[in-house]
Amino acid sequence: MFQYAFILGRVYTISLAELLAVLDNLSVAYRVAACSPEVVVIECEKQLDAVKLQARLGGVIKIIRLFDTFQKKGKEFPSQVLTNYFTFKRINEYFHDYTGKKQFGVSIYVLDPTLHFRDESQRIAFLIKKVLQEQAQSVRAVIPQFPAQSLSSVLVNENQILQKGAEIVVICGNQKLFVGKTLCVQNYEDYGRRDYQRPARDEHAGMIPPKVSQSMINLAGPLKPLDYVLDPFCGSGTILQESILMGLRAIGSDLDQTAVENSEKNLEWFRNRYHVPPNRYKLLRAHASEIGSQLSNFKVAAVVTEGTLGPIYTKLPKKSEIDANFKTLSKLYSQVFKEFKTFLPEGARVVICLPAYKVSQTDYEFMDNLDFGTENGYTVLDPISEPLALKYKFLRVTGRKTMVYDRKDQIVAREIVIFYNGIPKVESNQETVIEGTIVPETESGEEAISN
Ligand SMILES: C[S@@+](CC[C@H](N)C(=O)[O-])C[C@H]1O[C@@H](n2cnc3c(N)ncnc32)[C@H](O)[C@@H]1O
Repeated sequence: MFQYAFILGRVYTISLAELLAVLDNLSVAYRVAACSPEVVVIECEKQLDAVKLQARLGGVIKIIRLFDTFQKKGKEFPSQVLTNYFTFKRINEYFHDYTGKKQFGVSIYVLDPTLHFRDESQRIAFLIKKVLQEQAQSVRAVIPQFPAQSLSSVLVNENQILQKGAEIVVICGNQKLFVGKTLCVQNYEDYGRRDYQRPARDEHAGMIPPKVSQSMINLAGPLKPLDYVLDPFCGSGTILQESILMGLRAIGSDLDQTAVENSEKNLEWFRNRYHVPPNRYKLLRAHASEIGSQLSNFKVAAVVTEGTLGPIYTKLPKKSEIDANFKTLSKLYSQVFKEFKTFLPEGARVVICLPAYKVSQTDYEFMDNLDFGTENGYTVLDPISEPLALKYKFLRVTGRKTMVYDRKDQIVAREIVIFYNGIPKVESNQETVIEGTIVPETESGEEAISN
């Protein structure tokens, strides 16, 4: 059995849904052993290719291989649990085989958000340093600055911690403590390039971040290499770009000629920069409700799209304006979803972002209903299996099985919906329990100790 921890992104529900969907798509049997808004611990029966996985997961910040689990007796601090853990032999197993001056980092993540430690990373770093210095090894420790308990992926990269030593990671709950090391971190520089270095940007129409695009593609079900993904509201082509990067082929269309030209420019830049093989994408100009006639030569496997989010607002519009926007959208999507039926195979998914107006820090004004999809023969899929959502109550799945991606400064957030063309026999994305049944949950997001 292999144990991994995945550090989840800011919008952790989407991160988790994406991760589990990818494991499902890869047919990995897994069990969620513990989860909190910052980290999920997963047990699986086979070793994962962490680097490959990291590259395709928009919502995961770090992947950690866990080596040891401790049962806590009470409220011990991590450094107390680990007092005698770091022997010279063990440290060498953890550390990268680097001959120069070794460099390591220590990060702590918690399974209970109320757990907060001061100077614990420092104490753990001291335990490791002491052992190495006894062996006359010179080392440098990188530790998070209070109040942070963990190192950012930027710090891990800038200090070359994974190359020159290791990032030791402690996942601490109330009953369990896991120890492991980071296998890889998200390539934040590359995401930045894929976002901001594109030659044609259309801030006015809104551009979906590459990470969110990736998560949505991953939620579009098991897709085979070179399958066609369609974005019928392609704008400047972010979803197309990310689909191609994930080994798929992309078809993009837009009503607006300038948007099609922007996608063309961006994909040309992307093709050269990322050495994309020829014939990986096709661009068309079309009204989304008439796209079918132009797709007779393509077998579209999934639709992933941001659709139109309506006007960009700097302050919350009036309720009547919001309602009018929703009404227009409902009408458009009703036609568009009907059109999808003309070329989408049964079981294919449509992953779409709908606008959600942020009326307060926690409340949104959503479209009244999803009838435009359900009345056209689509089923809304649960992004996170029901038992899991019940077990980890902090997960944010709306009553109609959707998730919200928002940013602090934005008035219009994105509501992500996963539609299934038809009625699924067994809902996918089920938690695969590999040993026994789900053990009752404690408050903190850990499993209760069962015996
Ligand atoms: C929010 S933008 C999409 C942004 C895109 N995901 C990106 O990152 O660049 C929506 C796009 O939908 C297009 N659009 C609006 N109504 C349309 C329709 N009926 N058919 C096709 N495209 C449409 C607009 O021209 C715009 O480019």
